[in-house]
Amino acid sequence: MNMTSADIREAFLAFFAERGHQRVASGSLIPGNDPTLLFTNAGMVPFKDVFLGDEQRDYNRATSSQRCLRAGGKHNDLENVGYTARHHTFFEMLGNFSFGDYFKREAIQYAWEFLTEVLQLPKDKLWVTVFTEDDEAYDIWAKEIGVPESRISRIGAKDNFWAMGDTGPCGPCSEIFFDHGEEVWGGPPGTPEEDGDRYIEIWNLVFMQYNRQADGELRPLPKPSVDTGMGLERIAAVMQKVHSNYEIDLFKALIEAAAKVIGTDDWENKSLRVIADHIRSCSFLIADGVQPSNEGRGYVLRRIIRRAVRHGNLLGATDVFFYKLVPELVKQMGAAYPELKEKEKVIAQALLREEEQFSKTLDRGLAILQDALAGLSGNVLPGDLVFKLYDTYGFPVDLTADIAREQGLTVDEAGFAAAMEQQRQRAQQASQFGVDYNERLKSSQRSEFTGYQLLGDQSEVAELFSEGEPVNELAAGQPGIVVLSRTPFYAESGGQVGDTGKLLVGAGQFTVEDTQYIGKAIAHHGRGDVTLRVGDQVTAQVDAGRREAIKRNHSATHLLHAALRNLLGDHVTQKGSLVSPERLRFDFSHYEAVSAGQLDMLERQVNEEIASNHELATELMPIEAAKQAGAMALFGEKYDDQVRVVQMGNYSMELCGGTHVKQTGDIGLFRIVSEAGIASGVRRIDAVTGSGAIRFTQQQTQQLRQAAGLLKADPTHLAERLQQQLDRSKALERTITELNQKLAAQAGGDLVKSAKKIGGHKVILAQLENVESKALRTMVDDLKNQLGSGVVVLAVAAEGKVSLIAGVTKDLTNQIKAGDLINLAAAEVGGKGGGRPDMAMAGGSMPEHIPQALAAAQKHIESSLDS
Ligand code: ALA
Repeated sequence: MNMTSADIREAFLAFFAERGHQRVASGSLIPGNDPTLLFTNAGMVPFKDVFLGDEQRDYNRATSSQRCLRAGGKHNDLENVGYTARHHTFFEMLGNFSFGDYFKREAIQYAWEFLTEVLQLPKDKLWVTVFTEDDEAYDIWAKEIGVPESRISRIGAKDNFWAMGDTGPCGPCSEIFFDHGEEVWGGPPGTPEEDGDRYIEIWNLVFMQYNRQADGELRPLPKPSVDTGMGLERIAAVMQKVHSNYEIDLFKALIEAAAKVIGTDDWENKSLRVIADHIRSCSFLIADGVQPSNEGRGYVLRRIIRRAVRHGNLLGATDVFFYKLVPELVKQMGAAYPELKEKEKVIAQALLREEEQFSKTLDRGLAILQDALAGLSGNVLPGDLVFKLYDTYGFPVDLTADIAREQGLTVDEAGFAAAMEQQRQRAQQASQFGVDYNERLKSSQRSEFTGYQLLGDQSEVAELFSEGEPVNELAAGQPGIVVLSRTPFYAESGGQVGDTGKLLVGAGQFTVEDTQYIGKAIAHHGRGDVTLRVGDQVTAQVDAGRREAIKRNHSATHLLHAALRNLLGDHVTQKGSLVSPERLRFDFSHYEAVSAGQLDMLERQVNEEIASNHELATELMPIEAAKQAGAMALFGEKYDDQVRVVQMGNYSMELCGGTHVKQTGDIGLFRIVSEAGIASGVRRIDAVTGSGAIRFTQQQTQQLRQAAGLLKADPTHLAERLQQQLDRSKALERTITELNQKLAAQAGGDLVKSAKKIGGHKVILAQLENVESKALRTMVDDLKNQLGSGVVVLAVAAEGKVSLIAGVTKDLTNQIKAGDLINLAAAEVGGKGGGRPDMAMAGGSMPEHIPQALAAAQKHIESSLDS
């Protein structure tokens, strides 16, 4: 049977759907809300919380074709790309999952049935492995499925205990291998030749049983579960009877496109495979909202792009080429991944920019590297060279390592790391974003949030914390945290800050300074004037004025988001937001500064929607329905199955858990305060609403009035008047310069007349007034010309500083050097100087000693010049 990649993907999903599995669309490459993971590296990642029992869904079997990236973090295949027939940075993982439903037996049976009956693979080509201690899996394979024991091996934890990352779901696994036949080099799993390309792992069945803790402890999952993963590219190679993933339909098309844009017919060249691999990871990363940068995920993207560009260079590319592969990729994969098609333009633009940027330094960096290689003794590239290439020429270290490897060399990683320390710290900070501010605290409470309808509510103290530990009582005056069973206080999330207010307890009160989540518990931070105990009845009262201001800013943020997309295009996606009572801040992807004219239009559009006074509608609906209705969702954000959709007329529809005004008219007024770039491809708008916008507008008017008053102009003619003033002061400056030059010429004439004779030579020694120090040089040149032969030493004092200058005509520089002369003089005024033998300058800090300085100069001249 010969099946295309698309046929196989569909056959797999259909097979499991027929067996009660929910088809789930691929999630983003950026895991939602998971700071432990750089990228989605396996099909199970979007289901992590379901395995852990932290999230319930209305199905307990699922199947997906998940886009995955293994180019950083625990699972990293970047270095293998191009060197083996089966490794990729980006690949698709077909998977079936059981969340506490079926376990080992069914997982093995399904896999066997799919491979041997649907795909009709010959049984004698299939080999399996099980975890050393897993007799149960061994017996199922040997006795129930009937795989001959000669083709089953027991393997240790390195290959047969799968873990998502350093923490999280994990368990023993059983892998299925396909034998590509003896014409390919390699040995069965567990033999020394296992890394060859003959026996290829095609499917991994993980029996998820544990949640690995940060200290290594394996805690049992609530229910034994199943996670499987089959690389689509590997099984496609099997089905298409080729021995390399790079020969399957999908890759063939990409390799042909790459060869065409570069203009090569060197089909066997591994660089073509590298490029075909990299265009997939780079394009999907950009589609999922990553932009090339120097930190975190953006840096991984940058490294992959640069690696691709360099391989293009190896193939003889003479111009930018990488971005030209995007249309072919969209042709191949756009149907299965609509997001790719949607983002086609954005992807191409980002790739082109990065390629152009790197091309500027690539040749130069390569030349330096070639020189160094030629002169190298030993087989290690020194760390400082690697760093220089990194720092000055933008060569990521793995790129340099890749080049070194082609020459049989390695790089001095330790030396590089030392030089890199600073950058490394920055990257580390980036990978820690998203770690919760309450991370140390743990709570199993689930507080009910009643604040969509109420600003005051009765409740009970469910839990208390002091200094990060749970307590039964919180004394008066002691700072701490109160968790309530239900509360109208909004805990910071989705960019909206937490509420403040008070909790009334009997005759006393607890002042709430901030509200945050601890897990699902709503935690009120602050301190009280009475003792609080767990079980106390309280009346919770949100600061209503502050909440109203927050609501206005939050609703305006949605309008701004919609206006940006209307005006700038659909590539605009939210990158972050902050909604506080004072202002709103919205970060979004866009390639250039938003022009003043565009900002005006945005402001107008948002204010028009405010004036239209749309009712706000909020509705809970299934995520799929919300997306279908066109609700805007955040990249990489993980949503519950039921989501809250906030709608304002036909203008804006977004998934959002925040609090909003009743009608857009409540926002009152919207004003943009500033627009700026905060990272490559990311812009930030700060804005204000309601009374904040009125204050902002009034301040601007006041400033305008004040400026107009100073210029004695009508505010409406301010710019005109200011221009006149500027023109006038420019003209005045010109006049002053001219007058100064005239004065200096006069003074120069006088100086020449007053020149002394020392040893028969003309010498001018003078302290000048009202001469700018930058005019001194020209003056000395003039004086030297007028003297024809002689020495000039001038001093000027201004604002407590001294400027000294000495000039010696060329015919005398063998007798006396301007530099020596100036240093002797400068020493008297506490300074030092330098220059050429015929002209030197110095500064000093003691104007009152200028006479001594000139005297010292004279003495030196007298002793130096022959008569
Ligand atoms: N999660 C397992 C893997 O990635 C299936 O191999």
